[in-house]
Amino acid sequence: MAGVVVVGSQWGDEGKGKITDYLSQQADYVVRYQGGNNAGHTIEFNGKKFALRLIPSGIFNAKTVVLGNGMVINPKALLEEMKYLNEAGIQTDHILISDRAHLTLPYHIEIDGIQEERRGANSIGTTKKGIGPTYVDKYARIGIRIGEFVNEALFLKRLQEVLPLKKQEFPELNFTVEEIFEEYKEYAKIIKPMVTDTGLVLDEAFRENKKVLFEGAQGTMLDIDYGTYPFVTSSHPGANGVCEGAGIGPTNIQTAIGIIKAYTTRVGAGAFPTEIDGELAHFIREAGHEYGTVTKRPRRIGWFDAVVVNQSRRMSGLTGVSLMLLDVLTGLETLKICTAYSLDGKIIHALPSTISELERVQPIYEEMPGWKEDITQVRSFAELPVACQNYLRRIEELIHCPIQIFSVGPDRLQTIILKEVF
Ligand code: IMP
Repeated sequence: MAGVVVVGSQWGDEGKGKITDYLSQQADYVVRYQGGNNAGHTIEFNGKKFALRLIPSGIFNAKTVVLGNGMVINPKALLEEMKYLNEAGIQTDHILISDRAHLTLPYHIEIDGIQEERRGANSIGTTKKGIGPTYVDKYARIGIRIGEFVNEALFLKRLQEVLPLKKQEFPELNFTVEEIFEEYKEYAKIIKPMVTDTGLVLDEAFRENKKVLFEGAQGTMLDIDYGTYPFVTSSHPGANGVCEGAGIGPTNIQTAIGIIKAYTTRVGAGAFPTEIDGELAHFIREAGHEYGTVTKRPRRIGWFDAVVVNQSRRMSGLTGVSLMLLDVLTGLETLKICTAYSLDGKIIHALPSTISELERVQPIYEEMPGWKEDITQVRSFAELPVACQNYLRRIEELIHCPIQIFSVGPDRLQTIILKEVF
């Protein structure tokens, strides 16, 4: 039995798409278990570049691709993404969608925007894709699930029940049941053949000893419970979200790989203890092309933060990490690693739970010499400059977890596997 989960272990955008794409070459199933089209995964191979939001990055290789029950699915966005792939010659007829996943409709997207505006100076900086409002309806028990969506009569009935409630809460909404129904029932017809109880499919896969890869979206610091609340997303991006969001049990997962960058980035608002600005941030942002896949926003840049990655290791029970974008740091004279925080004069090694404390922490840094050599052609650990090797070894020590993979460029060939995952 082989269940592997790949999770972002900082604030998202760590390069999960690339590793999932690589690992999915060996997987029978690739499963997403949370989030929606707030995600943006970039995959590059054979000189082609793809940007995916809802569809797992494993689409190019895996025999079956699953959108699990923990996801929130905007069917219009899904069909656009499928069309985009089909036009590039990529098949999408091996996608299965959980009948228990929740449906994102136009009013969720509008509510996302309204709420961000109402928050004013405290806005979260969401992707405005309606993700939070869809999860709110799920937990308020008024959400519409995909299984209802693909039954025309049921979809209409649920819309008639829910839309008036949302309009009471948000009088700005001026959608009618009819206009949403008329447009969306057509999308439902197209996705209906893909909808099933995906928990049963995965149970069968495990009983047949198939290889199953779970693909997290976003990063663990955006976890609704353990992230930098309230500046988080509304789901559980870590391995802790897999059971809930894919309908499997914890014993189905043997391996959890955390994806981390050689530095740190964050999009949207919220505390970011190791944030840097000015010329240095500009250098890293340009070298790492650190602009949002979905929103194109420039990402905030910071030094590597071992406190953050340790928290992610604990939450996801990481068995190894994949360190990405190592080449971006080439040319820097000195590198800093945050080993702990100081909070009101005390040294702490874990993130405090309140945002007011998190905003006050001061990073405690250790400095290491950088390297000048081009490492983009390196294909083994031994070929790395000694300073770079030392940087990786020190990170391993601080996060209590082995580096299993590292990456020195966007191409598949620039991914160096130190220990196989499957
Ligand atoms: P939401 O998920 O759109 O509600 O946004 C909540 C927070 O999560 C915001 O700070 C977003 O910038 C962040 N976020 C959502 N999706 C991603 C992602 O794929 N990468 C990085 N940050 C994300």
